[in-house]
Amino acid sequence: MDHIKQQIEALREELNTHNYNYYVLSAPTISDFEFDKKLRELTDLEEQYPEFNDPNSPTQRVGSDINKSFKQVKHKYPMLSLGNTYSEAEVTDFYNRVQKGLNDEFEIVCELKYDGTSISLTYVNGELTQAVTRGDGVEGDDVTANVRTIRSIPLKLRGNDYPAEFEIRGEILMPWSVFDALNKERAEQEEALFANPRNAGSGTLKQQDPKIVAARKLDSFLYYLLGDNLPTDRHYENLMKARDWGFKISTATKKCKTLDEIFEYIRYWDVERKNLPVATDGIVLKVNSLTQQKNLGYTSKFPRWAIAFKFQAEKELTTLESVSYQVGRTGAITPVANLKPVKLSGTIVKRASLYNEDYINSLDLHLNDQVYVEKGGEIIPKITAVDTSKRGMFDEKVFFIKNCPECGTPLTKDEGEAIYYCPNESSCPPQIKGRIEHFITRKAMNIAGGTETIEHLYNAGLIHNIADLYTLKWQDVSRLERWAEKSAKNLVESIKSSVLVPYPRVLFALGIRYVGETVAKKLAMAFHSIDELMNASIHQLTEVDEIGDRIAQSIVKYFSDPENVAVVERLKEYGLQFSLSEEVISQRTDKLAGLNIVISGTFEIHSRDEYKALIEQNGGKNSGSISSKTSYVLAGDNMGPAKLEKAEKLGVPIINEEEFLKMIE
Ligand code: IVH
Repeated sequence: MDHIKQQIEALREELNTHNYNYYVLSAPTISDFEFDKKLRELTDLEEQYPEFNDPNSPTQRVGSDINKSFKQVKHKYPMLSLGNTYSEAEVTDFYNRVQKGLNDEFEIVCELKYDGTSISLTYVNGELTQAVTRGDGVEGDDVTANVRTIRSIPLKLRGNDYPAEFEIRGEILMPWSVFDALNKERAEQEEALFANPRNAGSGTLKQQDPKIVAARKLDSFLYYLLGDNLPTDRHYENLMKARDWGFKISTATKKCKTLDEIFEYIRYWDVERKNLPVATDGIVLKVNSLTQQKNLGYTSKFPRWAIAFKFQAEKELTTLESVSYQVGRTGAITPVANLKPVKLSGTIVKRASLYNEDYINSLDLHLNDQVYVEKGGEIIPKITAVDTSKRGMFDEKVFFIKNCPECGTPLTKDEGEAIYYCPNESSCPPQIKGRIEHFITRKAMNIAGGTETIEHLYNAGLIHNIADLYTLKWQDVSRLERWAEKSAKNLVESIKSSVLVPYPRVLFALGIRYVGETVAKKLAMAFHSIDELMNASIHQLTEVDEIGDRIAQSIVKYFSDPENVAVVERLKEYGLQFSLSEEVISQRTDKLAGLNIVISGTFEIHSRDEYKALIEQNGGKNSGSISSKTSYVLAGDNMGPAKLEKAEKLGVPIINEEEFLKMIE
């Protein structure tokens, strides 16, 4: 038994080192494939010998237990915030106050001010025991289970010179790349968008299911140690120690002596921060000596030994002219602000996202308001504040519409959701057109055409739903204005050949709410034909991995509508694929489940298309471009230099044909 225990511990230690190299130092020393193999080895051993279970084992990172609500925990030391300054003059004042207060030499540690969710971590005997959010500063939420899934936060510390018990505070962050991908996915599903990575990150941290947290790839930076036996009397030197113990400490942190050095730091990072993978909103200045910190003490609210300097966001003041509402294909209503055009960091801004009703209410928006527009990292600018001093007596408050702007139907909203929907699925024009547009997109039925094609056909009364596409005659289409015989024939030809599109894509093409590409594939693998899916109960649906209540209900609702069933029946008659081929069913495995693989270059053993099919057959996902979501790049000869650079920059492991084939062996 002892040797098993030793084996388990050795594996844990080795995996912890690899995690540290990968997530903290960004310098992995083994391939992800090797790592996964070792992790699986450990998982198997732990399953076989549950007596050696440890909540801080690297296998626990995926998050397993579901906790229903967060326990409130009182902070041992209150979680204070910092006084804010906005000008170099105020920084000078701070520096002079410190000098006067100490009457001795001092160092100032300059740090980036990370714009995330603050967290306090407790370590006892080198193990993470608790992670608590700030809450009201006195008491916060115990989010330990979620924090355990964050790879850059050590569960067990390295070395042995850490205090027996201490707290370390820092920021939990969602990297821009993860944020952009998440919002893109939500936009596709017509779900409420997150306004910024801070909201997305804190929303993620408050998820009840640690698995979702694990999937969202949060990161962290730590910047403040608390405890009785810290290694040195200096903040900076303690942070460097903490880095050795395994914490992610910003490499931007710098010791300065003079005001000039501080200003140089501020000016440098005001520009350079735009190249960082995470959001920052200023810098923090801290007196280095802990004794001096103690001597300076606190005001009623803030420490006297530290201050925040906030960067100026690029923002402009302009007039809100009107609010319009867009209706998406699922009936989701998106409010958009129409602005008096204004120049903002190089581009003219005319519109800004208003996200949802809650966002409008939180701004207390009135028509004609002078509003601040800002560009975060997102592409769509947003309104961040209103200058109410300029508001006129008769300016009307903006109330979210009650009826659909296109068909007049009263809007509905599900409990707990932020988005309003127009429920008139069957005859609200933008919904009908939107569904047909979605149906023909490349990832769905891949029919040649776009928004304009559908607009023409719909307005001419040639199509009312997706099934009508298959009865189109080129003679009718070519009679329309701006349609030549050739393009009409091409369209009808392209529609005809779409009957070969495989079942999972047809399922995605139907446009059932919350059934995106991935979900459609999952469903097709679990229910091999549309008839099986139509007859599935909520319970049977939620049995499938990653299919929750919300998706299940949406599917049942879709098939309970006789109009939808009639459309599906017609599509069946036209010969569309509504079941998986035997071939696909028999060759399926889960070996690549959850992995996102990009193919690049030319290959010897199989063709690119064959690799694509192999990835999907084994439960993986093939995508076209490398992002933070990519698990591996399957590289052949002549992989493009841009792809190579991107993969290296993001730390995405590159595997060759042999390694890949071994994975699915
Ligand atoms: S030190 C008592 N350092 O900004 C000092 N805070 O308003 C505790 N923050 O609550 C904070 N980066 O959430 C410190 N390098 C940094 C920081 C930082 C971001 C956040 C933190 C804090 C708030 C201060």
